Amino acid sequence: MEEYLHKKYRTKKVFLTYKGREAIALILKNLALPNGSLVAINGYTCYAVYQATVAAGLRPYYLDLPENGLNFTAPTLRHAVINEPDIKAVIVQNTLGMACDITAIKKVCNQNKLFLIEDLAHSIGLQHLGGQEAGTVGQAAALSFSQDKSVDSVTGGAALFNFPVEPKVEYQPANAWHRFATRLYPWTTRLIRSTFSLGLGRVLLKAFKLTRLLPGPMSGGADHIHALPNWHSFVAYNGYQMLAGLNLHRQKIAEIYRQSLPSSVQFDHVDGSIYLRFPIRVNDPAGLISYLKQYGIYLADRWYDAPVAPARSLKLTNYQKGQCPVAERVASQMVNLPTHVNINEEQARILTEKVTQWLK
Ligand SMILES: Cc1ncc(COP(=O)(O)O)c(C=O)c1O
Repeated sequence: MEEYLHKKYRTKKVFLTYKGREAIALILKNLALPNGSLVAINGYTCYAVYQATVAAGLRPYYLDLPENGLNFTAPTLRHAVINEPDIKAVIVQNTLGMACDITAIKKVCNQNKLFLIEDLAHSIGLQHLGGQEAGTVGQAAALSFSQDKSVDSVTGGAALFNFPVEPKVEYQPANAWHRFATRLYPWTTRLIRSTFSLGLGRVLLKAFKLTRLLPGPMSGGADHIHALPNWHSFVAYNGYQMLAGLNLHRQKIAEIYRQSLPSSVQFDHVDGSIYLRFPIRVNDPAGLISYLKQYGIYLADRWYDAPVAPARSLKLTNYQKGQCPVAERVASQMVNLPTHVNINEEQARILTEKVTQWLK
C-alpha cells in the first residue's frame, strides 16, 4: 500500500496510520513549528482535525465559510494571516468532497510562507480544476480510510510528505478490542441491516454498541500513532482500485440532486467535486429527517451539525460561539443526501421528489 501511494501521489514519504487524525497529527508534528503556533483550519470541520492540531502542540484558527460554500476562501485566509502572524500552516479539507479553491489558497500560502496540508478525508480521488489531483498540491497530505469515506477500510489513514523531512514514527499497537471490532465491522453492520425490519437489528445495534463491538467513527484520539494492520491496508488498496468508478457514481447521483432540487437549498457547485455526500440546507433539518423517515429514508447522520462536529464534541474544543457565524448557520441547517454505491438513480429521484414535496 505504501508503494502504491508513493507512486500515485508522487510523494517523498508515506506513513500508514490507524486513523486519519493520526496522519494529520504526524504531519503537523514534523513541520518544526514553534509550540503554540496557529494552524488555520476550516471553521466547519470534524473534531478529529481539532484533536490532531492540539496533539501536535498547535492551536487551531477557525476560518469561516463563504455564504454559499463549505470551504474557506483564499481572501478569508489572506485576511486571517494579516491579523494573526502566528498562523504558520493551513489545512484544506474539500468538505464533503466539494473542491476548495486550491490554486488561490496555495498562492496565499506561498506568499506568506505557510505550510499547506491537504486533508483528503472527504476527497480521495478529487481532481481540481486544471487536473491537479487532490493530495499533490500541498507540502503534505493526510488520508483517511475510515467508515463511509471514499476509500473505506473501516479504519486507517496515511500521511504523505512532500517536503524534506525525516519523520521518526514510533508506532504503538492499536487497542486489541478495537482491532477485533473493526475486523468484524462489515459483518456486524450487515447483520444489523438485514434484521432491522424484523426488529432484531435494533436490539443488535444496542448490544454491539454497548460491548463496543461496533466502533464509532469518532472513537480514538490523535496523541499516538498506531500501526495499521495489514488487513485494513489491503482493503484500502482494493478501495483505490474501485475509486474512479465509485466517484463517478457519486457525481452522477449528485447531478440528479443538483438538477432537481431548488437552488435555494443548494451550495455553489465547484467543478471536480466528488460529493462524498450531497449537502442541502433547510430551516428545519429535524423536520425533514423525520418526514423522510416515514418513507423508510434515514438521513439522521449529518456531516456536520456544528462548526466543529459532532455537536456533542464541540464543548471539548476551544471554539467560541460567534467565531464562525456562517458555519454556525450552515451547521444548524445542514442535511446530507447520500451518493454512495447503494443509492441508484431511481432512488435519488424519489428522494428529490420527497424533499421537494416537504419544502412546499
Ligand atoms: C475533515 C476530516 N478530517 C479528518 C478526519 C479524520 O478521520 P479519521 O476518523 O480517520 O481519524 C475526519 C473524520 O471524519 C474528517 O471529517
